[in-house]
Amino acid sequence: MNEYILGIESSCDDTSAAVLQGTRVLSNVIAGQKVHEQYGGVVPELASRAHQQNIIPVIDAALKTAKIEKNQLSAIAFTRGPGLLGSLLVGTSFAKAFAQTLDIPMVEIDHMNAHILVHFATDETHTEVPDFPFLCLTVSGGHTQIVVVKDYFDMEVIGKTIDDAAGEAFDKTAKILGLPYPGGPVIDKLAKIGNPEAFSFAKPQIPDLDYSFSGLKTSILYTVRDNLKINPNFIEENKADLCASVQKTIIDILMNKLVKASKQTGIKTVAIAGGVSANSGLHDAMLALGEKYHWKVFIPRLSYSTDNAAMVAVAGYFKFLKGEFASQDLVPYARQSLNQ
Ligand code: KG4
Ligand code: ZN
Repeated sequence: MNEYILGIESSCDDTSAAVLQGTRVLSNVIAGQKVHEQYGGVVPELASRAHQQNIIPVIDAALKTAKIEKNQLSAIAFTRGPGLLGSLLVGTSFAKAFAQTLDIPMVEIDHMNAHILVHFATDETHTEVPDFPFLCLTVSGGHTQIVVVKDYFDMEVIGKTIDDAAGEAFDKTAKILGLPYPGGPVIDKLAKIGNPEAFSFAKPQIPDLDYSFSGLKTSILYTVRDNLKINPNFIEENKADLCASVQKTIIDILMNKLVKASKQTGIKTVAIAGGVSANSGLHDAMLALGEKYHWKVFIPRLSYSTDNAAMVAVAGYFKFLKGEFASQDLVPYARQSLNQ
């Protein structure tokens, strides 16, 4: 229970390192990359260069904040995929070299698995963890999944997006409205002062527990295009209302299938994870549904929602206990995730 695990996350545009003692988070250092803002999205080549610059200072800061020396570490957990290959290579290569130097095992972690397992990371204020099985709505820039979490590494995807992810829906809307990247946090902020009923957008009619967000993007695009013809200041004059209406539509779509999944499986412990789980409207919707359907709701704190290494380290700790170690010759993967 006292092992110190170092977690390393470098799958997209955040370089992060965390030190955990067992499941207890001692540090969780995250360095974002401002360089992408001017391009309106992540530029893979620039991301890997920024990871190379950030990785040593970030790991150093994580060890210092945790007040431990590197030779006290028992294992190194790192994100192997999915994500940008160039970015993943930086974390993976560093993990390999560091593990070899320290002569300790390393553990490979799937990024989406880690987003879910962050619910087991504990600290002074966060001690309650979900019981198995629970449902997790995993919503990020690249994924939208409803997952039945049966055990730490026994997860079944019962619903997923057939096109865009929920995070992409936020980011693409922001682009249409001329807002900066990433769009999620900006839309979240503006939505607080807007009217969610001001505009209505097309909702997808997708069977089972799957999602689709590409039609919503088109619906937003057409609404904006048609109104701009009548009023060139349409976006400026309606920004907050547009954000609130789009956000409400995305949340309604997400919650509709989550409620269906809970009814179908009979599971009433329901969690959210991934970057979009930072959304305040989604928090409110989860709490309201929790009350209505008697769910036990788990919402990660902000620093555990978007990409972070605490989630990698806690997943790494559970794999470490199982003795599942990674070999020095493994390579990152860009796409494969859970049972997809
Ligand atoms: O998990 P994450 O940090 O990276 C990936 O693994 O993709 O998720 C990033 C996504 C972006 O699409 C971003 O716009 C979205 O999460 N996001 C949010 C919020 N904060 C981040 N979406 C809605 N509301 C937020 N507050
Ligand atoms: Zn992520």
